[in-house]
Amino acid sequence: MAAATPANYDPIEVASRDEISALQLERLKSTLAHAYNNVNHYKAKFDAAGVHPDDLKSLADLAKFPFTSKIDLRDTYPFGMFAVPREKVLRIHASSGTTGKPTVVGYTRGDLDRWADLGARSIYAAGGRPGHKVHNSYGYGLFTGGLGAHYGAERLGCTVIPFGGGQTERQVQLIVDFEPHIIMVTPSYMLAIADEFERQGLDPAKTSLAVGMHGAEPWTQVMREEIERRLNIDAVDIYGLSEVMGPGVASECIESKDGPVIWEDHFYPEIVDPTTGAPMPDGQLGELVFTSLTKEALPIIRYRTRDLTTLLPPTSRSMRRMGKITGRSDDMLIIRGVNVFPSQIEEVVLKRPSLSPHYLLEVSREGHLDDLAVLVELKPSHANATKSERQQVAMELQHHIKSYIGVTTEVRIVDAGSIERSIGKAKRVIDKRPK
Ligand code: DLL
Repeated sequence: MAAATPANYDPIEVASRDEISALQLERLKSTLAHAYNNVNHYKAKFDAAGVHPDDLKSLADLAKFPFTSKIDLRDTYPFGMFAVPREKVLRIHASSGTTGKPTVVGYTRGDLDRWADLGARSIYAAGGRPGHKVHNSYGYGLFTGGLGAHYGAERLGCTVIPFGGGQTERQVQLIVDFEPHIIMVTPSYMLAIADEFERQGLDPAKTSLAVGMHGAEPWTQVMREEIERRLNIDAVDIYGLSEVMGPGVASECIESKDGPVIWEDHFYPEIVDPTTGAPMPDGQLGELVFTSLTKEALPIIRYRTRDLTTLLPPTSRSMRRMGKITGRSDDMLIIRGVNVFPSQIEEVVLKRPSLSPHYLLEVSREGHLDDLAVLVELKPSHANATKSERQQVAMELQHHIKSYIGVTTEVRIVDAGSIERSIGKAKRVIDKRPK
């Protein structure tokens, strides 16, 4: 019989709240001083706001400090936010910026070390143990997904299969041949892999896989159920963003599957009103804001993630959790006055038994009015549906979207396989409105 292992990887995960808060305060003070003393941009912003690192006496005092956003990273492009000499930066990653220039982030040796530790902690929370094989389908390169997951898995002592994105046929082959225990992949691409299993006449529910760690894009509870049912795995949520670190800022515990636990010893979370920036109490839906507590190369102070979610009380660990991301304050579509998040539409689509999770939203403009078309693929098992059956499904979906979200749409049911597959993050919205 295998020896019992504790549920947590690091003792701090189950420490008392007082212990965690004390550590946060100490680390917050040194992070603010580090940012102020070593990054001109932070010094200028703090000075303009009339605040100094010494003004932080309690965790609540953080609210006095100015926010950071992608605009600050764009204005200091490429390396202006680094708080250490460039030679101390061992790795650069980048993500999409608000304009043509990417958002650049950097890591010291210590940062990379802590990132690997947090990746290991996240995989452990998902049930991963040393010796497990991990198939990593997150993209390698400037995106933090691939290397972040990779070094986390290695740190834990797993055998990593560094596949990266794409080549879906071969992904299937290697999953069959190498028999991994865990797969790390975006939820949308997990389903594309499941489709490919079926196309090859293989049952995706009969693989060696036991756990999927999915993130990098919003996904719903309904999508979790679909992944778990089709692949016969536990699908857990892993969250992160490059500006704050990468995958492993927060990650879900397999025993509770109740939202990613924020690794609060390294990241201080806040929820703010997305319009006014005013702090909001735990439990309320707002924009997630993070301050790094241990980062050297790129200390990030009150970073506006644009992710909308809630902070939830601790359960499986002593640290707070975050709810599912319901959308981003900047991917919201406004269709004839109605606010629409792609994830809401997805939820309705997935409730229809004949429809697949492959969908696309097309926004166009007729005169002054925006129109929203929803293209959804039939499941391969419904490929023989007649024209009138398709019309019936389209009408029903249109009705459900109208009554659930309040927006009038034109639904087009298309053949399985006709919507372009993502090999990383799914592209859910095509905006055809004139600029
Ligand atoms: O997507 C890091 C990552 C890689 C996380 C692999 C998890 C797994 P970025 O490319 O900077 O970093 O994108 C960050 O992706 O602000 C969210 O909007 C979204 N996102 C990331 N994880 C989740 C998740 C990576 N679990 C942005 N659920 C974030 C919903 C997520 N959205």
